[in-house]
Amino acid sequence: MTDAIPVAETIRGALAGLDVEAVRRSYWDQNEFVCLERWLPRPLIDRMLAEVERVRPAINRNYIPRHKKGGSVSFYTLRADAPTIVAFYRAPAFIEFLAGLTGQRLLPCPDNDPHSCALYFYTEPGDHIGFHFDTSYYRGARYTVLLGLIERSSSRLVCQLFKNDPERPPRELQLATHPGTLIAFNGDKLWHAVTPLGPDEERVSLTLEYVTNPSMHPAKRLFSNLKDAFAYFGLKAVFGRRPGRLGSASD
Ligand SMILES: [Fe+2]
Repeated sequence: MTDAIPVAETIRGALAGLDVEAVRRSYWDQNEFVCLERWLPRPLIDRMLAEVERVRPAINRNYIPRHKKGGSVSFYTLRADAPTIVAFYRAPAFIEFLAGLTGQRLLPCPDNDPHSCALYFYTEPGDHIGFHFDTSYYRGARYTVLLGLIERSSSRLVCQLFKNDPERPPRELQLATHPGTLIAFNGDKLWHAVTPLGPDEERVSLTLEYVTNPSMHPAKRLFSNLKDAFAYFGLKAVFGRRPGRLGSASD
C-alpha cells in the first residue's frame, strides 16, 4: 500500500503544526469536544476527494421520517476503493494524537464494523440528521471524529455542549465543516445534529469511530447491524457479506 507512507508523513507534519496542549485544553474545556478549522493539508484532502468521487456510485440513500435523510458509504466500500481515507483512519500518529487528547487508549473498530470509517453524503434538498448522541454499543467508550470534505451548503453541524452537565449552562455551536476541518468528541457527551440541506447544495463528511474496547455483546451487535442496515448502508452492504462476521456501530 504505497499510499500509506505519504499519508502518514502528511499527518505527522500536520500534527507537528499544532499546539497539542492547547488543543487538549480546548477539548476538555468544551466537555470533550474540539474543532480544528481547516486543519488537514489540501493535498491530502484532494486525494480523499478523488476517492469520494470513486465511491459515489455506491451511495446508499436512506430516510427515517422525522430523524434523518441522506446517503452513506460504508467501510466495506472504502476499504476496497479508498486507500487514502482508510490510511488516515488507521494512521498511528493520528490515533496517538487522539489518545493524548482523550486520555484513553484508543483503537480503530474491528474490520467487520461497516460504520467504523464511513462517508456521509448530503446531496438532496432536506438531507439532514436530527439531534442524537453517538452512543457506543461497544463494551467501552466511543469517540467520533468528523472531517469535512465538501462544503457547499447552508447546512450546519449543530453541537450542544454540556447537554447533560448540571454544573454548566448549555452552549450551542453552529459549524460549517469546510474541507479539512476536523471535529473530535466523546460520543456519549455531544448532543448534535445536521440542519437540512438547501436546494443545489452539497455536503460530504467523513466519520471515523474509535473505541476503548473493541468487543461487543452479541445482542448489541445485532441491534447495531440492523440500525446500520436501515439507517445507513442498506441490508445488502451490512448483511450481504460473510455471514457470522457482522459489524456494529451507531450514528
Ligand atoms: Fe453523530
